[in-house]
Amino acid sequence: MPDTTHPLHTAVPGRWRDAARATGLLRPDGSVAQTVFAEMTQLAARTGAINLGQGFPDVGGPASVRAAAVAAIEAGHNQYAPGPGIPELRHTIAAHQHRHYGLDVDPDTEVLVTTGATEALAATILALAGPGDEVVTLEPFYDAHAACIALAGATHVRVPMLPAPALPDHATSGTGSAPAPGGFRLDVATLRAVVGPRTRLILVNTPHNPTGAVLTRAELDAIAAVSREHDAIVVTDEVYEHLVFDDATHVPIATLPGMAGRTLTISSAGKTYSFTGWKVGWVHGPAELVTAVRTVKQFLTYTSGTPFQHAVAQALADDDAPRALAASLAARRDLLCEGLADAGFGVSVPQGTYFVVADAAPLGFPDGVELCRRLPELAGVVAVPVSAFCATGDDGTPSATASALASSVRFTFVKREGVLRDAVAGLRRLGAAGG
Ligand SMILES: Cc1ncc(COP(=O)(O)O)c(C=O)c1O
Repeated sequence: MPDTTHPLHTAVPGRWRDAARATGLLRPDGSVAQTVFAEMTQLAARTGAINLGQGFPDVGGPASVRAAAVAAIEAGHNQYAPGPGIPELRHTIAAHQHRHYGLDVDPDTEVLVTTGATEALAATILALAGPGDEVVTLEPFYDAHAACIALAGATHVRVPMLPAPALPDHATSGTGSAPAPGGFRLDVATLRAVVGPRTRLILVNTPHNPTGAVLTRAELDAIAAVSREHDAIVVTDEVYEHLVFDDATHVPIATLPGMAGRTLTISSAGKTYSFTGWKVGWVHGPAELVTAVRTVKQFLTYTSGTPFQHAVAQALADDDAPRALAASLAARRDLLCEGLADAGFGVSVPQGTYFVVADAAPLGFPDGVELCRRLPELAGVVAVPVSAFCATGDDGTPSATASALASSVRFTFVKREGVLRDAVAGLRRLGAAGG
């Protein structure tokens, strides 16, 4: 492992420092900490604990899609793909958006294939935001959102997602007279207060990592309204679009009236088909915005994963595998949520994604970071603290959202049922250990 505490390292200039600071990895002495995901994964490897920290499936995706990748390699699809992505995949993405959401997308001018959603996010933010601009995200946020905003030199402005009772105006997030669903909800009042003339982008993530919330139509309407009012572009990270449970519905914000013309929609095949290592993603939206993003993307990777693009083009035409995955994930979510509740955690049952956030305060653990460090020894399980998805000030002070969620930890349920049963058995030991 590189010695990140070496004095020479602390003297290296550049934007990397901003990315490290934005993700809470820059220590006061200028050295760089590893991410909590790396720390917890190492902890799992060292202790043999069950790793429910990192969100990747422990079984491979559909055999037919794997075979399609092998066939593409054997057929000789091994050189650079066209910069925007192979036409077959761009056409399948456009057809997917039409079939599922009724969106009309031109595969030739309005779709760009990227190296995972991560590159789509990076290219989009670097293309469209810069110094003096504000980029609004939800908080907790996926760490790449904050890192890319910092690399662009823009200012990160955050809107809390909190358990509904903690929000002063949570009643307003409901649709009409219907009550808003429980779990984590958008702080709509703060959203309205922070979006203004300097807001360049509003970066939405639904279904939301780490909270598992699926934004309601009313929450999306509020985002759409402020984006129109202040002429901000909406960027929406929808990598968990097919992983929604119960009666929750994923609504792409691009489908709201007037929004297709100001929205860039990002997704990827990683979560939907359990191929997180393939890194085939995409962004679509109005041609002029996609052109701007492509202009940056072509100098990041130019293009990648040609045989995987062919396999994903085939996968994306078939809706059975995602439907089956969502059904099985819902059952695994129930198993883990029930186990966590039995163990004494306060559980916010997620409506989507791979993740559940559980509050350890009722068990006598006020500090999620501390709990996660002890969890292997106490329960044979690894999780990640939700504060890792929140901002810290330059002096190390946690944001208000980080403080509100200090005792919350994120567990993934995208593991085999037997693994989750073992984890739940370990977690039941926690009640006795509290504090
Ligand atoms: C919210 C969110 N966006 C983007 C990504 C990254 O997607 P990809 O692997 O396609 O780059 C993840 C992966 O965990 C995620 O949770």
